[in-house]
Amino acid sequence: AEPLQAAGGVIVPPKEYFPAIQKVLKKYDVLMIADEVVTGFGRLGSMFGSDLFGIEPDIITVAKGLTSAYVPLSASIISEKIWQVLRDGSVQYGAFGHGYTYSAHPLAARCALETLDMLEEGKYLESNLKKGAYLHQLLQENFADHPLVGEIRGQSLIGAIELVAKKDPMTPFDPADKIAIRAARRSMERGVITRALPAADTLAFSPPFVVTESEIEKMVTTVRAAVDDIAKEIGR
Ligand SMILES: Cc1ncc(COP(=O)(O)O)c(C=O)c1O
Repeated sequence: AEPLQAAGGVIVPPKEYFPAIQKVLKKYDVLMIADEVVTGFGRLGSMFGSDLFGIEPDIITVAKGLTSAYVPLSASIISEKIWQVLRDGSVQYGAFGHGYTYSAHPLAARCALETLDMLEEGKYLESNLKKGAYLHQLLQENFADHPLVGEIRGQSLIGAIELVAKKDPMTPFDPADKIAIRAARRSMERGVITRALPAADTLAFSPPFVVTESEIEKMVTTVRAAVDDIAKEIGR
């Protein structure tokens, strides 16, 4: 599971969700794999999203933030319990083969070490919390009353707005209208790249950790102008 579902719509789990899931997993002895490809290494203002949502992972998968995406690298982090199975199994059955052509590539490994040092030295976990709070304040200010925005979601340095045909009751647009994709295009024309998420008519905000407050302002106000463009286009 993703601690916070990212490309699926930027869905923040309710506090009780993962503790309830963990109980079921424990009862039936099922492993939890936390997919921290998006949430790992600082985006939520914590090293891992699992720490925030009461997830007790047996395996964590990581990628993007591990090298800040400058060099491709992914990894699986395994718990002591899993490690013991692999270690003991290797004694009994022979070595567990998991080598790849580019495993432990020196360039990617160096980049990851440097990224992890920078995360610490640059105090990005703290600053992402602060910048994230500002991002969500601006999202509320610009979109809470917008006729096309049904929901504002996210946490820390990931945010999203869902575009809806009607706010009350929340009614989605016809997917064939491709509203979010059109809004993302307008935003691009105005100079800001945002991502339309396919699962819902949702625009996502996921700026780099070095983003400044004035860039956050530019990003949100530009997307606001783009959504206004679409509202005009469809007569709302
Ligand atoms: C949460 C999540 N997990 C996994 C992936 C895929 O990762 P990879 O391309 O490293 O396999 C993505 C890609 O965007 C993702 O968002």
